[in-house]
Amino acid sequence: MAVEEAIFTRRTCRKFRKDPVPEAVVHKIIDAARYAPSSCNLQLWDFLVVNDESVKNEVAEETRYIHLAPVGIFVSYGNNYTRENYAWVQSAAAAIQNMMLMAHSLGVASCWVDTLGDVDHLRRILELPPEREILALVLFGYPELIPKTPRRREIDILLHYDHYKGRLNWPSSDDPEHWTLEQIRDFQMAKIRNGARYNKPVPSERDAILAALGSFVKVDGGRWLDVLPLTGLYTEEISRAYPDVEVTFTEMTDQVFEFVDDRVPRPVHHELFPDTFHEARSDFDVMSLIFRLEGYPRAERRKILQTMRQRIRDDGQLFVAFVNSRSYHRPLRWLRARIGHQGVEYALAPDPSLGPFKALTTREVLADLHETGWRVKDRQHFFAVPPADEIAFRAGRKGRKVRIAGQTLTKLSQALRPVDRFLGPVARVQTWNVVPA
Ligand SMILES: Cc1cc2nc3c(=O)[nH]c(=O)nc-3n(C[C@H](O)[C@H](O)[C@H](O)COP(=O)(O)O)c2cc1C
Repeated sequence: MAVEEAIFTRRTCRKFRKDPVPEAVVHKIIDAARYAPSSCNLQLWDFLVVNDESVKNEVAEETRYIHLAPVGIFVSYGNNYTRENYAWVQSAAAAIQNMMLMAHSLGVASCWVDTLGDVDHLRRILELPPEREILALVLFGYPELIPKTPRRREIDILLHYDHYKGRLNWPSSDDPEHWTLEQIRDFQMAKIRNGARYNKPVPSERDAILAALGSFVKVDGGRWLDVLPLTGLYTEEISRAYPDVEVTFTEMTDQVFEFVDDRVPRPVHHELFPDTFHEARSDFDVMSLIFRLEGYPRAERRKILQTMRQRIRDDGQLFVAFVNSRSYHRPLRWLRARIGHQGVEYALAPDPSLGPFKALTTREVLADLHETGWRVKDRQHFFAVPPADEIAFRAGRKGRKVRIAGQTLTKLSQALRPVDRFLGPVARVQTWNVVPA
């Protein structure tokens, strides 16, 4: 296979066949790693293939990925002599890329994994000396499923001559007040490029939203506008639950339109946000705004609600769902920042949102609604204590310590479950049935 073809057709695989990869192929892959460039040609890498089932099970306490593929290779690099300029990271990364391209040319698929949990624990399991850093686990195997090519950023925004001509893509703050609409739009496109695996709903949350929708919105016909649904998680649910309603959604880019179109069970209409949304005059019987107020600056929120008010029929209704900041949401985020991933992406992607996100108080949402001509008719709330699936989702891939903490929390939350419904003001998910004032 030509290098060019290998580069452009290699894909990250996350579903492998069980068939073993011959020893000779593994050797060829390691041989390719040996020929990668390394800082000062020190070649301080070691590759550790985990074969033994009992070692695999131990490793799985930190990273469940190990069970995904027949071959899992930990890539480690010496941290002596190579700290400067991240030379160890650069050298190991070059070796990993060589391994993946060689594997691909031999018909073997791969997945680069940095979700490793507690690497010190892993180092003890693998009996690596302290001078060896574990950088990644790379999985290899024959592919069961090769995903579509995730989209790439365009060349003209990432290529610069002489001086940097762009601007940093996104603020490092997750507070929507620090984001422009343009930055929010760019960030969403980046997440959409990453594909569907970023937007699987936590089932308990989806069920709660559907239950609230079902009790507030009883229509079998008419026109529904889903406002800024982003990945279309709930556009899909709405178009399924209300088969005779004509659904439109407004979003910021064609890429998002395409992404949502792919997931909805029947055709839906689009309206480009902000221009078409604010300028169009057609009106709607029902509107929904599900976990989206939290993602926009306050001035923008008001503008959105104002336009929605102008475009709802007098006897129409609006379904609002938002994350209440006076709930376990706040301590949970604090905890995550301390024990979980610290990267911008993780700080910026608290489900169900993708992008900047700031949970709101019920008072803030009430003020937004009152000032834009809406009135709250009914309310339902969910999750004063976190549901088990949310705890498992958040604690699941962050290593053994976090998982054990998660199990303790699950027990605690199950014990508290009976009082959940009396704790509306501190419930994380608030759902409101809103009508024109
Ligand atoms: C440093 C690094 C870490 C990664 N970690 C993971 C991971 O933990 N889990 C995973 O499923 N994919 C992981 N990936 C794969 C990326 O998601 C993937 O490369 C990206 O979506 C582009 O897709 P492609 O490799 O098919 O071009 C990682 C990639 C890199 C370079």
